[in-house]
Amino acid sequence: MSAAEREPQVVADRVDAAIHALADVVESGRRGWTRTALGPVDRDARAIVRRWMVEAGLQTSVDGAGNIFGLLPGTGSRGRSLMVGSHTDTVDGGGRFDGIVGVVGAIEAVHALRESNHRLEHDLVVVDFFNEEPNEFGLSCVGSRAMVGELNATHLDLTDTHGITLAQALRRIGIDASSALASRYDFSGVAAFLELHIEQGPYLEQHGSQIGLVESITGIARFQALFSGRADHAGTMPMDRRHDAGCAAAGTVLAVERIARQGRDSKGTCGQVTFTPEATNVVTEHAEFRGEFRGPEAQWLRTAQEALVSAAEAEGSTRGVTVEIDWLPTQDPAPMSASVLSTLSGVVDGLGLSSSRLFSGAEHDAAILARAVPAGLIFVPSQDGRSHCPEEWTDLPDIAAGVTTLTHALLALDRTASTIGATS
Ligand code: GLV
Ligand code: MN
Ligand code: MN
Repeated sequence: MSAAEREPQVVADRVDAAIHALADVVESGRRGWTRTALGPVDRDARAIVRRWMVEAGLQTSVDGAGNIFGLLPGTGSRGRSLMVGSHTDTVDGGGRFDGIVGVVGAIEAVHALRESNHRLEHDLVVVDFFNEEPNEFGLSCVGSRAMVGELNATHLDLTDTHGITLAQALRRIGIDASSALASRYDFSGVAAFLELHIEQGPYLEQHGSQIGLVESITGIARFQALFSGRADHAGTMPMDRRHDAGCAAAGTVLAVERIARQGRDSKGTCGQVTFTPEATNVVTEHAEFRGEFRGPEAQWLRTAQEALVSAAEAEGSTRGVTVEIDWLPTQDPAPMSASVLSTLSGVVDGLGLSSSRLFSGAEHDAAILARAVPAGLIFVPSQDGRSHCPEEWTDLPDIAAGVTTLTHALLALDRTASTIGATS
């Protein structure tokens, strides 16, 4: 530390005020704290985030995929940078902390560094990634995918249940599809990426740990299943002569649960279920749902995909119902950088914080960024392990400990990042 530098101090009240300010920018009439990326208010919230970045002394910009960047130039001349961030969109009926803690925390880290007279040698780039949560089209991490060059035309042609395409939905909120496709970020100068996030599960609370250091992030296989049968009179068509698409879909939903129970740390979930026609006195002609498998092992995901196809075909064939299953490209599990993890361990130990290493069953922008840059993910505890629901909660002292860890991790990486290799 030079003479003018002091120990960085995170101001918990400033973090708290920012979290509460974003909690006021939500879609009216919906439960919880709903701010979906393609919905009516996300843009307002991101404008507030951009203003906070400016107030923190960052030079801001927005790319063609809606990602907001805040740059704090470093003292170095080598064009090397550190990147830090998360997202501010939420799931329908979600909470106030998922993603938000990481964006607000990154901006607070900038305040803490500047107020303690620390100047990093690396440039620091704070990012509010656009649309991390799976949207109505089944696609997640739209902004970070665009940055690593993995957003493609097939994604933009995905349709929602009303038949509109993702490209059209983006246009409605002012994002041009071709600009989004052209928003690849040049990661060649980025030494490391860090994300701070709530755990969203019960592990840290159960183990009495203040900080979680993530070793790897779940793999995901997302699908859309469409069952087509025949509409008939519900009161007259005998049970053994029906082609009930709803029953075939229901059997397949249960198969997802059965398959997911068979892996290690694996999960399987279905949602967005629709039966048409929408009537109780008509045998269901079409049924559709979306779902996903998650787990720490890529091989298990492949096995689960095959098992699901067999189960759906069996459910369809006994009922004379046709089945179509479309898969989004499978995301393999993403290991975090061993070097970044070791730097983070040193930081939490130096701060005297208790920590655990763990696997993340939740998806994060860090998983996408890890394909381009050494990445690290820091967790703070979630009360009762609840998330993606209005009850989602993390105590302010726990959040402050996470932001302090993030701030010191930036200082540590600034000193050591030149030794981190792209694949380590
Ligand atoms: C994001 O929160 C996810 O895990 O779906
Ligand atoms: Mn999140
Ligand atoms: Mn989430």
